[in-house]
Amino acid sequence: MRTHAADAPAPRHALVTGGAGFIGSHLVDLLLAEGWRVTAVDNFDPFYHPSVKWENIAAHVKHPAYTLTPVDLRDETGLEGQLDDEYDVVVHLAAKAGVRPSIADPLVYQDVNVRGTQNLLEFCRRRAIGHFVFASSSSVYGVNPNVPWSEEDHGLMPISPYASTKVSGELLGHVYSQLFGIRFTALRFFTAYGPRQRPDLAIHKFARLMMARRPIPMFGDGSMRRDYTYVGDVVKGVRAAMDYTASQYEVINLGNNNTVSLHELVAALEEVLGVEAIVERHAEQPGDVPQTWANTDKAMRLLGFRPNTPLRDGLRRFAVWASETWFGEGISAPRSAAPIFRYEEPRRPVTPSGI
Ligand SMILES: NC(=O)c1ccc[n+]([C@@H]2O[C@H](COP(=O)([O-])OP(=O)(O)OC[C@H]3O[C@@H](n4cnc5c(N)ncnc54)[C@H](O)[C@@H]3O)[C@@H](O)[C@H]2O)c1
Repeated sequence: MRTHAADAPAPRHALVTGGAGFIGSHLVDLLLAEGWRVTAVDNFDPFYHPSVKWENIAAHVKHPAYTLTPVDLRDETGLEGQLDDEYDVVVHLAAKAGVRPSIADPLVYQDVNVRGTQNLLEFCRRRAIGHFVFASSSSVYGVNPNVPWSEEDHGLMPISPYASTKVSGELLGHVYSQLFGIRFTALRFFTAYGPRQRPDLAIHKFARLMMARRPIPMFGDGSMRRDYTYVGDVVKGVRAAMDYTASQYEVINLGNNNTVSLHELVAALEEVLGVEAIVERHAEQPGDVPQTWANTDKAMRLLGFRPNTPLRDGLRRFAVWASETWFGEGISAPRSAAPIFRYEEPRRPVTPSGI
């Protein structure tokens, strides 16, 4: 049983789906530090190695205000049976992520990201939970050429099954906000990066290969652009959305408003890691959009969102994390004298899949 001082307000309780993942585990760090109770739902999906996710939550599971519920969102009975508390807000980050794999396995993406989201909305409806924050994606804009992308531009042109599931999630949220009064805030994330980044994403994948002195695959001519957003900035935006009450339904970009080409990204990684990249060129991949670029005016206006982590600073923090976690995987020191990688004994034998 948990107790608190009689005159102190009860801590707020957040239900965070995908709480063992990259963005989710950072959000849980922040919430626990702020004194929230947190229930994390995660099925440890094998999209990348579950041991990485257990490492993400190693500190959480020791925290008295934290509960882990390893249930699959598609399991309606499991959700109902295993989540038996009261929750002030649901932050729905769990999903099958990744554009390219969604082309290979579209029905699973539909099942988890659409049916799973609706299961959770139904759960909120039954429990009268009034606030739902949803992880959407910049990929919903697809090949819309009008950058920087604004939420007011309704020209959504998704080009992958993954992106279409995020459009569906936003629309489901509109239905539930209208019919059942659930406040629904969809946050369109733009390529989050930083410590614990998913191994399938370019920064993680490139850094790992570069440190192993292996070639990095570059799809297209290097002109593809992404609005990389540091995960610490992203979770501040998510946290602000959890307090947002001024309207019942919003869609908000959480990007960095600074688009970076693949060439520029590789140059920044070379500088931070002190390793020259060996680039292996490949044809463009179906599903990959040529550019992402967020207009963040609305996020600033509604959430006070001000991302302020320059790319190289964020990459350095990623590199420090990598130096602590990748040891023992045959990855050697960078050539530069920059003391980014610390040489210590490996703490765990993790081999994430994805590259
Ligand atoms: N990382 C990005 O750059 C980015 C960009 C746009 C949108 N998003 C969205 O943000 C959210 C978080 O992304 P992330 O990068 O942290 O991904 P992640 O894969 O690290 O985290 C997602 C978590 O959801 C869990 N999960 C998957 N299927 C589940 C199911 N059926 N039931 C319960 N849990 C399940 C996974 O085990 C994982 O821990 C996702 O919804 C993703 O689509 C991420």
